[in-house]
Amino acid sequence: MKDKGRKISMVTCYDYSSARAVADSNIDCILVGDSVAMTMHGYATTLSATTPMMALHTAAVAKGAPAKFIVGDLPFLSYRKGLKSAMDSVHELMSAGAHAVKLECVRGHAEIVRHIVDSGVPVMGHLGLTPQSVHALGGMKVQGRTKAALKILNSEARELEEAGCFAIVLECVPTQGARRVTDSLRIPTIGIGAGPHVSGQVLVYQDMLGLNPGFKPRFLRVYANTFEVIRTALNAYDDDVKSGAFPSASESYKDPELIEQGATKPAEHAAGNGRGPRITLTSEMNQ
Ligand code: KIV
Repeated sequence: MKDKGRKISMVTCYDYSSARAVADSNIDCILVGDSVAMTMHGYATTLSATTPMMALHTAAVAKGAPAKFIVGDLPFLSYRKGLKSAMDSVHELMSAGAHAVKLECVRGHAEIVRHIVDSGVPVMGHLGLTPQSVHALGGMKVQGRTKAALKILNSEARELEEAGCFAIVLECVPTQGARRVTDSLRIPTIGIGAGPHVSGQVLVYQDMLGLNPGFKPRFLRVYANTFEVIRTALNAYDDDVKSGAFPSASESYKDPELIEQGATKPAEHAAGNGRGPRITLTSEMNQ
């Protein structure tokens, strides 16, 4: 897509029902990001993500969006404890249904990136603001704001490309810096807070759908106020339960005498091909 000048859309996703919505959309690919620790588990940073947590969410997403390209995030330190440990984590995510893995930074693990790639697993890099290093960076801050920092960013991006990465996430990098990195690489860059001159964009599902009220970084565009939609629906349900308006007769099952007076019984209606009743849970529940 980079070669053809087409932008790549990516969104994070962590669960089955959200994955079904992404599966039904035009979004190109999914990141099961370690941001799951924050969005779905309520931790303050991504450092609490673990490989079993990532594998569980990857498996749920893979079931909901089987036709999408899914990148699974390698969590904090999982690729910094030696090759065997890194490969065990890669194995868990790929077995759970990922098609590729992502890891942050490059210093100290370029060899591991190479080994994962040589093992047949596509690797996505991640530079700029790398949230797993939040404490070393002194907080969630825009990166690459000096000439020296941009030079390092450029050379790290090239190192990742040389190690075999198929793409690189650039997080919170000034626009022209991200453009320079993108232009210097053959592989695509996927930006989040990296301006428009990258090969594609990624946003966190909860953030772009307004499920994270109060989180308003400069780079974020909120496409729907889903938090408000859900709150309004929950309050409407609560009103209906308390007023007795829910459930109505059409939302309640008929008593046996009433079914006998009717034209069909559930079992007759569900019977199929003469080989006996074919009653599914759904057909029974819909009667
Ligand atoms: O974990 C995540 O959601 C990410 C994106 C912000 C790129 O790494």
